[in-house]
Amino acid sequence: MPLDTATWEPNKDMPVGKGATVQQFFAKVGNDQFEISVAPWGEGQLTVNGREIARTAEARDRRQAFSSLKQAAERYIRGEPVDLTGNGKIRLIPAVKAKLLQGKKGLVVGIANQRSIAWGCAAAFRAFGADLAVTYLDDKAKKYVDPLARELECKIVMPLDVRVPGQMEAVFDTISKQWGRLDFVVHSIAFAPQDALHGRVVDVSLEGFLTTMQVSCWTFLQMARLAEPLMKKGGTLFTMTYYGSQTVVKNYNIMGVAKAALESAVKYASAELGPKGIRVHAISPGPLATRAASGIPEFDKLLEKAKAKAPARSLVSIEDVGAATAFLAHDAARLITGDTIYIDGGYHVVD
Ligand SMILES: NC(=O)c1ccc[n+]([C@@H]2O[C@H](COP(=O)([O-])OP(=O)(O)OC[C@H]3O[C@@H](n4cnc5c(N)ncnc54)[C@H](O)[C@@H]3O)[C@@H](O)[C@H]2O)c1
Repeated sequence: MPLDTATWEPNKDMPVGKGATVQQFFAKVGNDQFEISVAPWGEGQLTVNGREIARTAEARDRRQAFSSLKQAAERYIRGEPVDLTGNGKIRLIPAVKAKLLQGKKGLVVGIANQRSIAWGCAAAFRAFGADLAVTYLDDKAKKYVDPLARELECKIVMPLDVRVPGQMEAVFDTISKQWGRLDFVVHSIAFAPQDALHGRVVDVSLEGFLTTMQVSCWTFLQMARLAEPLMKKGGTLFTMTYYGSQTVVKNYNIMGVAKAALESAVKYASAELGPKGIRVHAISPGPLATRAASGIPEFDKLLEKAKAKAPARSLVSIEDVGAATAFLAHDAARLITGDTIYIDGGYHVVD
């Protein structure tokens, strides 16, 4: 029996069409149950009787992902090789069936481009069904963030340079007016002036120190303060940290000092906000080749070392960070708070 488009039945328990995130389609051929899951950003997965047969990571959109997976299913039926593996770039998301965060609303700050950790988080949150507000640093960043915000189907997309007075308040004001509430915030930003980052910590100027601490630490507390009244039924606050807070990591310098303060801020904030049902997490990913990381000398050596020494013998991806972060926003994680959660393949326990 040919597998034409009409053979594929949508999963009626999941939203279909505009506004939906991951969609599923089923087809029965003889005794075999075929299933295609596709995400709006062009990822998808084909399974036959629950076993994965093909993946795609680089389709232009959901329609193109569906079309190539449908062809893969046809090849499978004809007994031909199915050469569609996602080139190793696949995210975890199409395997996720449940809309675990449907109805939740969150703000993600820190998307610069497709390599940003904040983007990995935003994509995961959206795939789990959450509605998102995102920000971009300035007009230069807007052209990179706008298409990503469209993929996420964001209704709120605003400028936010945390050093510009009033911009953060404006973002939370808009959220308050449009949503009236907030369930999670992802703070995924950090900055140190070049001379502060590249020198010894004992030589850092007051100005360099204050700028580093302001952008990388204080803004998290400020976001927590602005989010608090909107998290009427509780919520989750996330910030991104790094292992260089715990031990001296070569070249991490003043950023290690800022991350130590940030991790401590998470503990205090969790104690203060916990009685209101607001959980606070520092997420500590292993090294990732993002734009921020490109400012750290010899970063490739950090990557090599992480891969060789981590118990999992693997570098992490922004998708790994996104999926784990999204889980922590779910009610199932309601009693986890105040700590630094490592997503690093276990590296921190061996180094
Ligand atoms: N890349 C890594 O290896 C790694 C590892 C652990 C933790 N982190 C942390 O993850 C977070 C995100 O970094 P990334 O690696 O995704 O890099 P990135 O360059 O993609 O993101 C950094 C973000 O910080 C934003 N930012 C800087 N100054 C800002 C300001 N004044 N106002 C508003 N936004 C500002 C940038 O616009 C950018 O979106 C940072 O806190 C970083 O320290 C990174």
